[in-house]
Amino acid sequence: MTKTNTSEESEDLTDQAIAVLAENDRGDYTVPAHGLYPHQWLWDSCFIAIGIRHYDVERAQQEVVSLLRGQWSNGMLPNMILSNNKTSKHSPEMWRSQLSPFAPDNVATSGITQPPMIAEAVMQIGEKLPLAERRSWYQKVFPALVAYHQWIYAERDPHNEGLALQIHPWETGLDNTPPWMYELHQHLLPFWIRAVRYFKVDKFLTLFRKDRKYALPGERLSTIDGLALYSIQRRLRRKSYDIEKILTHSMLAIEDLNFNCILIRANTCLRSIAKTIDKDLPDELFASMKKTKNGLDQLWDAYSGQYYSRDFATHKLIKVPTIATLLPLYAGTVTEERAEHLVKLLKNQHLFACKYPVPSVPLNSEWFKPSVYWQGPTWININWLIIEGLKRYGYDEEAAHLTKQTLELITTHGFNEYFSPLDGKPAGVRNFSWTAALTIDLLQTKS
Ligand code: GLC
Repeated sequence: MTKTNTSEESEDLTDQAIAVLAENDRGDYTVPAHGLYPHQWLWDSCFIAIGIRHYDVERAQQEVVSLLRGQWSNGMLPNMILSNNKTSKHSPEMWRSQLSPFAPDNVATSGITQPPMIAEAVMQIGEKLPLAERRSWYQKVFPALVAYHQWIYAERDPHNEGLALQIHPWETGLDNTPPWMYELHQHLLPFWIRAVRYFKVDKFLTLFRKDRKYALPGERLSTIDGLALYSIQRRLRRKSYDIEKILTHSMLAIEDLNFNCILIRANTCLRSIAKTIDKDLPDELFASMKKTKNGLDQLWDAYSGQYYSRDFATHKLIKVPTIATLLPLYAGTVTEERAEHLVKLLKNQHLFACKYPVPSVPLNSEWFKPSVYWQGPTWININWLIIEGLKRYGYDEEAAHLTKQTLELITTHGFNEYFSPLDGKPAGVRNFSWTAALTIDLLQTKS
């Protein structure tokens, strides 16, 4: 297998990664990949900026600032800022963000958010700048960050429990992750989708899927799941993205583990940014942020020794395990003892230890499928989050090992969207931006 540890090989890989990002550069933002992903995505741009900061800090700043043009007047950062080029003309019509009085006038966006990685990206960019420039960078984006975090709590934590709820699986970034699909299939498929399934029309509908052009259908969401996600999106649109109306007859509201772990870390970053520029955070926000730290404990299940997402209305944990169980490491606020337990899970061969880790669903799960989107494949952004978490708790050897395995996977198989954890087979689209950007970051920060 190709090794990536000589500096010449690292330089080579960095150059290739920069070329991928250049190919996906659309001026002041970067698309996730050419073709299938023509818009700007929220957490993608954050990961992308974290990579770009190593060779062009100004462009990294621009990547983040370009996200703010989509910010709603209530503070929400949408998961997508929609491009209106020829091939994606239907997307603004599908979302119709203008139905909400809070949506910006001059840009079309989605009506939902994505994991709040932006404070992390801002801070990591800041670390590349001398103090005076760092302070002016932070000052520039601070009000937008505060407004976003305030929105998260105001809209998504209506009972002031410290945990933020999500209303669509797209908000978790892990579109067809098993706990959400489990909930959907248990109670919530609309009758027309059940009819499609019953009469097996989905096989026929698959022929019309846009993603077929770019990736093998067997590596994407199933057509039934795709239709289900689309139907939830339509419902949110019918309610004009008004959270009160949405929650009144809520079919699907989940306090997602991935989202909340990232929120906890984002709060830590926001506090540090505020400190650097001598600003206070609003009292109410500060109080909510403190609650989230403790809130994570409510997602812990002592019996199985794992963390899970939770149903917002019933407060029941959705005990379908995924990679998110390891992300409290990234949150960085769990005890040393809990962190040690999570590292054991990472090393367990029945769960996450395999040739090309880390699988997005444990290997022994009935949901595990090595090449199906978020139901098994290894994703580089998740590896990056885990590596950051391992370092945070002093597991430097484990972090270095996972970094090496991740870089070997990419060196051997390319900058794909995701990979089979069993044999490394690349899947999804090629030349994926966050794979390239985080490769650069991992090469720069590997010990
Ligand atoms: C898919 C992924 C999501 C990502 C988006 C653009 O929807 O699940 O995490 O942000 O594609 O890359």
